[in-house]
Amino acid sequence: MDGPSGTGKSTVARRLARECAVPYLDTGAMYRAATLAVLRAGLGPDSSARDVVLAAAQARIESGTDPAAPRILLSGEDVESEIRGAEVTGLVSAVSAHPEIRELIVGRQQELIAGAVASDGGMVVEGRDIGTVVAPDAALKVYLTASDEIRAARRGAQDRKAGRAADAATVLAAVRRRDHLDTTRTVSPLTAAADAVVLDTDHLSVDAVLDELRRLVGERGLVR
Ligand code: DC
Repeated sequence: MDGPSGTGKSTVARRLARECAVPYLDTGAMYRAATLAVLRAGLGPDSSARDVVLAAAQARIESGTDPAAPRILLSGEDVESEIRGAEVTGLVSAVSAHPEIRELIVGRQQELIAGAVASDGGMVVEGRDIGTVVAPDAALKVYLTASDEIRAARRGAQDRKAGRAADAATVLAAVRRRDHLDTTRTVSPLTAAADAVVLDTDHLSVDAVLDELRRLVGERGLVR
């Protein structure tokens, strides 16, 4: 499942995984944890590419795959809350644009997917390049979209719920900036795979999106 932020991707991906009783992988969390490692190494937007790549490559990231309790560890520490903060969110697109970092993280994602397919028969994976690069042979590819304004409003509501400041204009600008970086980077930019089912969630509730996903899963015989 791919798409920009604020499309409801994480919510529906987790719920679908729980319903189908398969593991779930939030690939964005892995890029966020790598970004936190970069920040903790004292680096930032002006650091050299070499230093950033080195810090991210040395990061020990472990990703949980339980849809009921997603967990991301950096050097054994649970960083689930910290990786959602403004500092990481502001730098993650730049960090995840480095081809060397993507290669490393995509390799780990593919190992986790292969393990889940072998032991559980499948996995729900969400990100930006899953249908195009990470799992080009996926049995079902879904690309979620929504207008900038609606995605920013959803992101702002999420931030406020998590106790983070969320001025509407600032959130909209941040959403647009990150979309721009994610869609224009040279390596595996955010785009729908040619064979993805595209769902515009502007006027669809989470339940309506899930209904459609259930239908697609059933249609393709993916229910165990
Ligand atoms: O899904 P998210 O907002 O947590 O993702 C954070 C960032 O990570 C996103 O702006 C771009 C990057 N990302 C990526 O490049 N490829 C992925 N498969 C997932 C996320």
